[in-house]
Parts: sequence; structure tokens; C-alpha cells
Amino acid sequence: MPEVTLTSLYGLKQRGEKIVMLTCYDATFAHLSCEAGVEMLLVGDSLGMVLQGHDSTLPVTLEDMAYHTACVKRGNRGAFIVADMPFMANATLDQTLNSSARLMQAGAHMVKLEGSRWLAESIRILAEHGIPVCAHMGLTPQSVNLLGGYKVQGRQEAQARKMLEDAQALEQAGAAMLLLECVPTPLAQQISQAVQVPVIGIGAGVHTDGQVLVVQDALGLSRTGHTPRFVKNFMQGQPDILAALKAYVAAVKDRSFPAPEQSFNA
Ligand code: KIV
Ligand code: NA
Repeated sequence: MPEVTLTSLYGLKQRGEKIVMLTCYDATFAHLSCEAGVEMLLVGDSLGMVLQGHDSTLPVTLEDMAYHTACVKRGNRGAFIVADMPFMANATLDQTLNSSARLMQAGAHMVKLEGSRWLAESIRILAEHGIPVCAHMGLTPQSVNLLGGYKVQGRQEAQARKMLEDAQALEQAGAAMLLLECVPTPLAQQISQAVQVPVIGIGAGVHTDGQVLVVQDALGLSRTGHTPRFVKNFMQGQPDILAALKAYVAAVKDRSFPAPEQSFNA
């Protein structure tokens, strides 16, 4: 795979070609995902649940994230690596800079921060230091205790308007990418059209500029027996994991994933 850069990702949005992202926590899957054509590898703090067995992402530490980012970097063959800022590792601006430096030095090309408009100052300063930021909006799992569960966000009119305005404010602040989790399809479409930067979706419908899934979910591996609505098992009908990853890439590229049954329509 030719090396994926922020510039090439922007080119994909401009040409209307979907961006394919998948979570990745180790070298073997990094290598395999690249072979399948996955353009972005997300070292997600979802590793707290799928690798560590916690029931939320809150226990994940900065050192955990740096360790897995370094593992992914060693297996990477040209994909663009995004590392999650773990819970409270960006509580102050100083911490935000230090934590981001740790992740970038471990091998990330971009850091992802959960939040909304209040992230603007951090995003501006990180961009000034040469660190591209993806702002993760909508359902932000690190706030699960405040949100009262893993629920679709932006269903009410006022909430939807605020999410759109916040997305534009974060683009203004210098966010290089947005990620929308569990957002109704029409709102995610509106936001994707309102900003120049690529918008990646999970449970956000087919109209975002790209898609992401947790790799275990995409392979039909469930620890809890509960599968979220937006997940599809790409192992079905495939002989091996590489073929399943290729099927995921193809389905995102040809817009057959996510179908309406994997989306929240209102
Ligand atoms: O941690 C993660 O895997 C994520 C994705 C679900 C977007 O943030
Ligand atoms: Na995450």
C-alpha cells in the first residue's frame, strides 16, 4: 500500500472516495490490515474492553496506549496511525501536550481526543506544535457515566444543532479530522458536508467520509454476547481473516456498509 498521509486522506474526501479505518492494537493485525487495504489504523482505547476485559475505557492508561501504538507501528506497512488520548490524560493543557508527545513518539501520526467545543484550545495548540488532531464527537465512551449509557447522541433538534456548530468550531480551531460515534444518519451527513476535513463515522450512517469499526466486532468476536446495532460480521462467508478484512474494505468503498439496518435513521 502506498503510504497514507493526511494529504492523501483529504484527497479521498475531495474525490468522494470512502476512507477505511479499523481499530488495531498489535503488529500482526497492523500488517494484515495494511495488506487488506485499510488506510487508517486506530489504536483505540477500546482496547480496555476488548483486550484488557474492563467494562469501560476509563481504566486505560497513557502507558497502555503508548505500548500498543508502538506495537502497531512495528507492523504497519503504510497506513495512517491514530492513537486515542485515554481518559483524563488531557485534563490540563500541559498534560495534553505531554500525553500527545508520548503517543506521537510511540508512532502515532495523529491523536484522537473525545469531546466537543471545549477541546478547541487544545486542538489549536497541538496543531501549532505539529500534531494533527481528530475530535471524537457524539457518543464519547469516556463520558459514559455522565451520558447514562452508550446511547445515540444528537436525536433532539437542539442537541443536533449544537453538534453541527461544535464540529464547525473545532474545524476552525484546527482539527484535522472528526469522528462521529452513534449519531443519526441525516445529522452525520449534514456535518460531513459542512466541514472540509474528513469525517469518520461509527454508527453514523453511510454518508460520512469514512467508516471505522472495532476489529473484533468486524470479525464477529464478541466477549459479552452483546453486538451493537452498527456492527457487521465480515467473517461470514470468508475463508480467513485477511479475506474478511478485504470484504470490510470493499463494503466501505462501495457503500454497501453501513446499510440502513446498521445505522440510526433518526
Ligand atoms: O476506541 C475506539 O475503538 C474508538 C472507536 C470505536 C471510534 O474510539
Ligand atoms: Na476510543
